Parts: sequence; C-alpha cells; structure tokens
Amino acid sequence: MIPYRDASIAEAAAVIRAGGCVAVPTETVYGLAADATDARAVAGIYAAKGRPSFNPLIVHVASLADAERIAVFDDAARSLAERFWPGPLTLVLPVRAGAGIAALVTAGLDTVAVRVPAHRAMRALLAAVGVPLAAPSANASGSISPTRAAHVAASLAGRIPLVIDDGATQAGLESTIVQGGRILRPGPLTAEMLGLETAAPGGAITAPGQLASHYAPVRPVRLGAVDRRAGEWLIGFGAVAGDDSLSPGGDLTEAAARLFDALHRADASDALGIAVAPVPERGIGAAINDRLRRAAHRD
Ligand code: TXA
Ligand code: MG
Repeated sequence: MIPYRDASIAEAAAVIRAGGCVAVPTETVYGLAADATDARAVAGIYAAKGRPSFNPLIVHVASLADAERIAVFDDAARSLAERFWPGPLTLVLPVRAGAGIAALVTAGLDTVAVRVPAHRAMRALLAAVGVPLAAPSANASGSISPTRAAHVAASLAGRIPLVIDDGATQAGLESTIVQGGRILRPGPLTAEMLGLETAAPGGAITAPGQLASHYAPVRPVRLGAVDRRAGEWLIGFGAVAGDDSLSPGGDLTEAAARLFDALHRADASDALGIAVAPVPERGIGAAINDRLRRAAHRD
C-alpha cells in the first residue's frame, strides 16, 4: 500500500505495462485495474477477485474521444457523456469492432461498459499508461466494495502487488450504469439527475453482474431496523442512533459515502448480525437501498 503521488503512479504504470493489475481509487470505489487490451492481464483481475468469468468489466478511459474509439455512441449517449463525464456514469454501448478490447472484458457480449473517471489517481494512471483500463471494484467477488485502501488490503491481501492509497473515496457507491436510456444499476448520479428511469429488476435488460446476492457481509443483515436486537450491531441513519450512523443528520449523500465503510466495520465487529436503519428511497437513497438489499440477500 503506497500513498498517491507521482512516483506511485509511475510504479503502478510499470506494473500495468508488464501485464499486472493494481488497485487504484476512483471517485466511486477503489478499482482493480489492468490493460483492457491484454487478455492475460484481464484474466489476472478475474483470478485476483475470484470472479465468475461471465461477469463483464467496466473499461475506464481518459476522455470521450478515447471512449468513442472503443464503443459506438448514438446522440443520446454522447449527450449524457458530455454532461456527466468525467464522473460516476457508466454507459453500456455496442463495442467497436477492431478496437482491441479483450473478449474477457465484455465476457463475450457485443456491448462494452465504458466510463471516464474523475479521480486524480485513476486519471493520472490512465495518462501514464495510454491504454484503456478494465477495472471492477477491488474486492473479492461477492464481498463488500472497497471505499478505502485498507478495505482493499483486507479483501485481496497477497493477491495483488500494489494498492495506491488516496484516502476514502468521495461518492462511496459504484457508478450509475445506463444502457439504451435506462438505468441498469442505480448509483451516485440519480434518476432525477440523469432524467432517466430505472429498468425494472428482472426486466428484459439487466446487467449480467447484478446478482441478487452481492456486496454481502459475512454476518446476516436485517434492514429497516428501528432498534437493536440482542447481539446485533446497529447502523443508524437520521433519528435512529446506533453503534455507528450513516448520517446522524439524515443526509443521503453523506450516507452513500459512508455505507460500505460502515458495513466493513460492522462485519469486523463481534456482533452476531448487522441491523440497518431505514433509509428513504428518494434521490441517491435508491442506490443505497439497492446495495443494502443485495447485502441482506441470502441465496
Ligand atoms: O464505480 C464503478 O463502476 C467501479 C469503479 C472501479 O469504476 N467499478 C465497478 O465495476 O463497479 P464492477 O465490475 O464491480 O461492476 C461492473 C458492472 C457489473 O454489474 C457488470 O455486470 C456491468 O457492470 N457490466 C459490465 N459490462 C456490461 C455490459 N456489457 N452490459 C451490461 N452490464 C455490464
Ligand atoms: Mg463490484
């Protein structure tokens, strides 16, 4: 784990050029990045995460122009990109033939998920390597997403050579994913902000990686809790105080930024279970509740 600075970016770029993967912060969560045009490097991401290979990855690029080299944009997609990039928006678009994106990145689909991140460390790394970077969240598959370098180190210890530490991520939830004018995964950019609707769960269009059980703590999770039952760790919100609170003042943006850190801490406690206070569904609350439902789901 090394702090963000020019030297650490140069070191990370050398690992990427040699076909390795490194953990790097974005404005949403920490990502595990590798050269998206190098099939062996991408295989290394899947191996480090223990991820099922049917689950495609997001490709990160430095600019809309770079994105147009790997994906085919229509006017609606270009307008979203111009308004919200760099930022926590991922667009699923037809993959451009001959762009060199490894088939493992798209898991064999004819579409590719692409975004231009806003974080200084990820942007510096993209500039240094000059290739698109495939990067899923930097956690073992199915476990809680990382919003701090320490979360990455705990989840992937010994499986990756380098974690660039640049503090807690700002948004705290993975990017909003849009395909064909519908939101596939709610995120920091809300339906209201984008002027789009969220695809019905289980509808015709779904993100292949949107498994019901995801972001799952080891301990059982109980939602909508207004008090603590015996042996539980209570994560509060607003008027519901707990062992910890997502936001005592009931601020949803603050709650989103703190959600995964709160789940990591609850899971590291010696409690028998994790209870979470109700979070309103408005605005980014929809994305918070999406992640909480997945955390609570047991197959
Ligand atoms: O904020 C983020 O998006 C973070 C940071 C690191 O950029 N990345 C992230 O990646 O959350 P990951 O791999 O954990 O989630 C990628 C999601 C999965 O649900 C996957 O199924 C979906 O993107 N996805 C990727 N390619 C897709 C495609 N061609 N069609 C539909 N969904 C796709
Ligand atoms: Mg993930």
